Amino acid sequence: MNTYREQPSVSLYSNRSSFKWVVLGISLIISAGSIIYTDQLVKQIREREKKQIDLYARTLEYLTNESDAPNQIFILEEIIQANNTIPVILTNEFGEPEYYRNLPKADNLKDAAKGAYLREEISNMKAERDPILVTLVDDDNQVYGYKHIYYKSSYLLVQLRYYPYVQLSIIAIFGLIIFTVFNYSRTAEQNRVWVGMAKETAHQLGTPLSSLIAWVEYFKETFPDHRDIFLELQKDVDRLEMITERFSNIGSVPQMREENMYEVVRDVISYLEVRISKKVAMTVEAFPNEDIGCLLNKPLFAWVIENIIKNAVDAMEGKGRIDIRVMRINHGQVAVDISDTGKGIAKHRVKQVFKPGFTTKKRGWGLGLALTKRIVENYHGGKIFVKHSEVDKGTTFRILLKT
Ligand SMILES: Nc1ncnc2c1ncn2[C@@H]1O[C@H](COP(=O)(O)OP(=O)(O)OP(=O)(O)O)[C@@H](O)[C@H]1O
Ligand SMILES: [Mg+2]
Repeated sequence: MNTYREQPSVSLYSNRSSFKWVVLGISLIISAGSIIYTDQLVKQIREREKKQIDLYARTLEYLTNESDAPNQIFILEEIIQANNTIPVILTNEFGEPEYYRNLPKADNLKDAAKGAYLREEISNMKAERDPILVTLVDDDNQVYGYKHIYYKSSYLLVQLRYYPYVQLSIIAIFGLIIFTVFNYSRTAEQNRVWVGMAKETAHQLGTPLSSLIAWVEYFKETFPDHRDIFLELQKDVDRLEMITERFSNIGSVPQMREENMYEVVRDVISYLEVRISKKVAMTVEAFPNEDIGCLLNKPLFAWVIENIIKNAVDAMEGKGRIDIRVMRINHGQVAVDISDTGKGIAKHRVKQVFKPGFTTKKRGWGLGLALTKRIVENYHGGKIFVKHSEVDKGTTFRILLKT
């Protein structure tokens, strides 16, 4: 059982991801609400347009059948011509278009083309809504034919139907732009903090270190009998120098050099081998051969390997195997796979291990892998990910670099 310790920054991360879901949920509710509400409006207006056309039909019927009806002009102007929105086509008893309104395209067409256009519109209208019948009767009230009124939704209604989608798309695009800008500035800020901290650390270590180096030299010369002690001291000073160099590299644009990846990895292993438990067996293999050149910054890359190995040793509680394979793979890439036989990472944690502040250790900072990822991705343009992990079996991390 590993105890999962929540660092302050870890809860910040989990809060942020639940915040994301809350925002997404609210946006979905608002979108659905807006669509449903507009749909209601569309239905109501559609119903109203139907009533208007019904009235229109009855009026036409009345005007046609009662040729001497009073107030003809009034009715014509107030009802027939007042319809400025709903496109209609009236056909005579033979189904031929006789009159139309609110079809501006037809106004610009000549006879034959206009006829064809109107007939096409009729079939469109028929598909959208049932036509309304106007019954024709003679003076003796005998039905002698029917006219049809074809109509479709007004332009306003069509616009209203698509309005929420257009509106929501614009909001979504706007939101995406804000999110990208926000994310970008947050990353830029994080970069400044990392670089600033590293630079300051290197700077602060620098002064006492130079003095230490000088003192060790002085003691070595002055007390030749105790040379062994000073050689040990020298090792620690060298180590401090390396740490300072790492920080100074993080704090500036690191110099990249062509290095032999296999040798770089071997060096780190030889350094670590004597410092970790004897019960951990470490192997390094190279494929297809040991001649694998790669552009990298050695002090920083050594730090990467060191962080991963230290995690592996922790995961195995000091007992097991660590196998490293350096491989030249397709597309001019070099892969470094580091496998351990440790306790593994649960599936739901795999994504989190690279986040700063995520740790499951009592004395961990949760910075090792965050730094590792930064070095590999930002400084070397490569990739690092958990290639495979199985709880209680082990984990394989893969680093990909361009040659
Ligand atoms: N090889 C591994 N096997 C199992 N779990 C791992 C392995 N490597 C990393 N982890 C998990 O990922 C977490 C984060 O690792 P990371 O190196 O970033 O921080 P840490 O080791 O906890 O602390 P430190 O800042 O001291 O490195 C670890 O706490 C551990 O739970
Ligand atoms: Mg670590």
